[in-house]
This record gives sequence, C-alpha cells and structure tokens, in this order.
Amino acid sequence: MTGNTKDYSKYFDFSGAKVISEEDGKTTYRIKGRNIQINAAPNYKEEKKRGKEDIEVHYDFVIPEEMSVFGKGKYYIIYTYGCQMNEHDTEVMKGMFEGMGYTATEDRNIADVILLNTCAVRENAEDKVFGELGHLKHLKLEKPELILGVCGCMSQEESVVGRIMQKHSFVDLIFGTHNIHRLPHLLQDAMFGKEMVVEVWSKEGDIVENLPKKREGMRAWVNIMYGCDKFCTYCIVPYTRGKERSRRPEDVIAEVRDLARQGFKEITLLGQNVNAYGKDFEDIQYRFGDLMNDMAKIDIPRIRFTTSHPRDFDDHLIEVLAGRGNLVEHIHLPVQSGSTEVLKRMSRKYTREMYLELVGKIKKAIPDAALTSDVIVGFPGETDEQFEDTVSLLREVGVQSVYTYIYSPRAGTPAADMEDNITEEVKKKRLARLNAVVAELSLEAHIKLKGQVLEVLVEGQSKNNPNVLSGRTRTNKLVHLEGPQEWIGQFIQVKVTEAQTWYVKGEPLEMSQRQEAVS
Ligand code: SAM
Ligand code: SF4
Ligand code: F3S
Repeated sequence: MTGNTKDYSKYFDFSGAKVISEEDGKTTYRIKGRNIQINAAPNYKEEKKRGKEDIEVHYDFVIPEEMSVFGKGKYYIIYTYGCQMNEHDTEVMKGMFEGMGYTATEDRNIADVILLNTCAVRENAEDKVFGELGHLKHLKLEKPELILGVCGCMSQEESVVGRIMQKHSFVDLIFGTHNIHRLPHLLQDAMFGKEMVVEVWSKEGDIVENLPKKREGMRAWVNIMYGCDKFCTYCIVPYTRGKERSRRPEDVIAEVRDLARQGFKEITLLGQNVNAYGKDFEDIQYRFGDLMNDMAKIDIPRIRFTTSHPRDFDDHLIEVLAGRGNLVEHIHLPVQSGSTEVLKRMSRKYTREMYLELVGKIKKAIPDAALTSDVIVGFPGETDEQFEDTVSLLREVGVQSVYTYIYSPRAGTPAADMEDNITEEVKKKRLARLNAVVAELSLEAHIKLKGQVLEVLVEGQSKNNPNVLSGRTRTNKLVHLEGPQEWIGQFIQVKVTEAQTWYVKGEPLEMSQRQEAVS
C-alpha cells in the first residue's frame, strides 16, 4: 500500500524548504519555521487510476501492546462532517482511541487530541472545516501540547493539503481515508516528533478487517464495500475513497450476526454504490442480491442499505427485497436529474426513461416501498426546461423525501471544467422551487399514512418535551408519540393521527391492540 509522490510542488510552494531528514520513505522538511514530515501526500492522477491489482484482506489488525496505555488519562474529540461513511469511520477511530486508553470528551478545553473527520463533497462542507480550524487555532496557541488532526475526504485533496501546510501550519496531523488503521502510529509520530505529520495514501488496494469500533445506540452501520468507480462528472468521491472494493460476504455476515447478538435492532449496510457489491470478486459469483438474501436469514429486526445507484439495481435484488422479512421497504435511489441530457453530462449512465422503468419494477414488486432520492440543481448548462424535467420526474415517481443540493464545482473533476453558465440567483430559485415541491410530496405521503398502524423503533426523547418520544418506521418516516422512557430501543405499534410535512404524530396502541396488530 503506497501512494507516495514527490511531486508536491504544483500545489505547495517548496521554495526555501530544507530537507532535514530522509528515512524509510519519510521526508522531513523545514518550511517557514515549521517541520513537516511527509510520509505520503495526495495525488489526483494516482487517485483517478483504477488498477487491476488484487485486493488483499488483512485480518491481523491489533493495537500494539505498548500503545494500549498510550492515552491513559487523556481525552479525545472527533468532529465528523459528511455522510454515514464518515460517521462510521469515526466509530472506527473512536474504537482505536479507546483501545489506546483514551477517553471521549465533549469539552474541547480538556481534550488532548482533536480530529476533524472531513467531507469534500461540496464547497460549503469544506468552508465549515476551515472555519473550525480558525477557531481551534486559538486553543492550540493556548495549549501547544494539544494534537490537532485533519482526516477524511478533504485530506485526499491535493489543494487542501497544500492549503493546510501553507496557511494552517499549527495542524499536527493530516491523514487520509485509506490510512485510518494507521492512526495509533501516526498519533505517536505527531506527539513525539513535534512536527506536522502528513500521510495520505492516494492509492487504496487493501481491506483491513477487525478494526475496533465504538458503536452507540440501537442502530449500527456496516460497511459492505469501499470506494466508487462510477466517476459521475461532478463528484469527488471516487478520488477521495478510491476504487470499489467489496468486503468478503463471510466477513459482512459475521459482523451483522455479532451485532444481532449484541442486541442491535437495525443495521444499515453502507457503500457509495451498494449495487456494485461483489463485482470485484474474481473467485465467486455473489452480488448485492445474494448478500441481502443472506441478511434476511439473520435474526435482526431491520436491515437497510444506502446508497443505490440506479444503473446496477438488478431484478434479482428487487425479487429478494420483495421477500421483505427484515429487509425494509425503503429504497434511497438518487436520480440527480430528471433530464436525460443532463444525466448524460453527469455521466450517470442511465436515462430518465430507464430510471422510471426501474421505479416501475420496484413499485410492482413492492407496492408500498418508500422511494427517496438526491437531486443536484444548477449543473453546468442546465436549462429551465431541464430543471422542470426533474420536478416532473419527482412528481411522477412520487418520491417521499429528497436531499437537494446546488451544484458545487470540485477541483479535479470533469464538470469543474465545464462552463458554469447559471447565475447564483437562478440556482437559488431552482433550489427553493424544488424544496417546495419536495415538501408538498412529503406531506402528501404523510397524509396517506393517517389512520394506519405502523411499527416504530423508538430512538429517543424529544429535546423540547421529555414525554414525547420519536422513532422511525420501516420506511424511515419520523414519528412522534407520547410514552415512557422505557420504550426507547423498543418496537411500538403506533396509529398515525396527524400528518406534518417532515414527520407524523401517532398514538401508541394499547398493549392488547399491539399484540393483535403484530399477530
Ligand atoms: N453514491 C451516492 C450516489 O451515487 O447517489 C451519492 C454519494 S454523494 C456523497 C451524496 C450526494 O451528494 C450525491 O447523490 C449528490 O446528489 C451530491 N453531490 C455529489 N457531488 C456534488 C457536487 N459536486 N455538488 C453538489 N452536490 C453533489
Ligand atoms: Fe459520486 Fe457518482 Fe460515485 Fe455516487 S456513484 S459516489 S455520485 S461518483
Ligand atoms: Fe463527503 Fe467523503 Fe462522504 S466527500 S459525502 S464524507 S464519502
């Protein structure tokens, strides 16, 4: 696993930099009064390559004995931005911190290590991180022994690493999405070396199993694959997360079985494109439909997945999902645009008609499936008419909820070189109109639920009123109900009494009615 490049000069001014030491592929530079140890730095060209080399799975991860008390009496905080993938990476890093003896805290004044687990998907996500770094600078000045680290998807960007080295040199540690398992060693280097440590592998390759994880609550995320090979023209993820690598089915199944034994109630299988699961297996024919079939046999109440790419959603998968059981009837199927022309420029590799045909098949097999989606507005060249195609598609599908985004150019992606001829004003207008339509569709779906009895997994109490509990249905609808604290973590049958735009209210059935509803 490498990815080192000596070609840093294009995004970082090395003039005046002195090489202080060079050993084991680690080079330490003295730049503007700061020592920077570079083990590996990101490189877009490398990140774009998709090699044929085999994916090795490592099962031998352990936190070295001498590091298991390294953090005794010390505190850590991880701030997480971005998607569930990042949230789950944070759980892994928390597991490693606690394996080193560290304790979690929310008080940054007592923290010994603060990590920012970042997201690069849109510019505003990055702005938030740079804003936070600005705040943390003061803390670092007051407490020089504090270790400040940046990891996650932004660390995989050449321009970001250059900017941090240049303008935020108080940062102690930068590591990428492929180096997470190296955290204990990197922390040690940053702590004892007193220099900024940069280790960002541009090329993935391997899968590291048996990483510790600190999970909380009753719902758990489980990665089934890493990376993405789709290269939608607007998207940075294939660069920041590397090529598609599927975890072996036996490892996924063992992890889910173990979570069931621990009492988790709901599992969400994670991948940027879960429908491509198994495409990379050379020795077995085993795809996402097969995995879901095996998931249905595990004694755990609910299994979800995210995210599906419409292109790889095959008939076998639909057939398996239609068997239900613990496979919930919620399908998040990002469409991005309802215009075939725009989809082509986005390189989504399906047309409006293909998407609608797929939705038709899903609805035929699972009539009460809740479909949700992602949409980008203001993609370069999107006309008013093409935008209206998106609105009409969402109505035709009857989507129940949509994450909507204004297109954000990402350096290094093909769309960033397309002429962005839409004014901010038009983009904002389109977003507002889209959000109004989405709200309308969501309310429509909720009104249809009135009077129905739904199974709700109660997740917690409302912040404003401790007597109000909230939970989710199998279709991921947010439900508020009144009930005792003991219900948290339980499945309760609830009759929907009120429909609001983003949630419904319901009344729990009496115990006898509940039993009737279940039988
Ligand atoms: N893999 C998922 C898929 O293909 O649907 C999506 C992953 S991406 C992390 C989540 C969403 O962010 C995408 O579905 C897309 O709508 C949005 N997104 C990605 N790149 C974007 C960009 N450059 N500007 C605006 N939104 C973007
Ligand atoms: Fe990005 Fe497309 Fe991959 Fe999703 S499928 S992560 S949008 S490149
Ligand atoms: Fe962001 Fe990386 Fe997820 S770019 S959305 S954190 S995969």
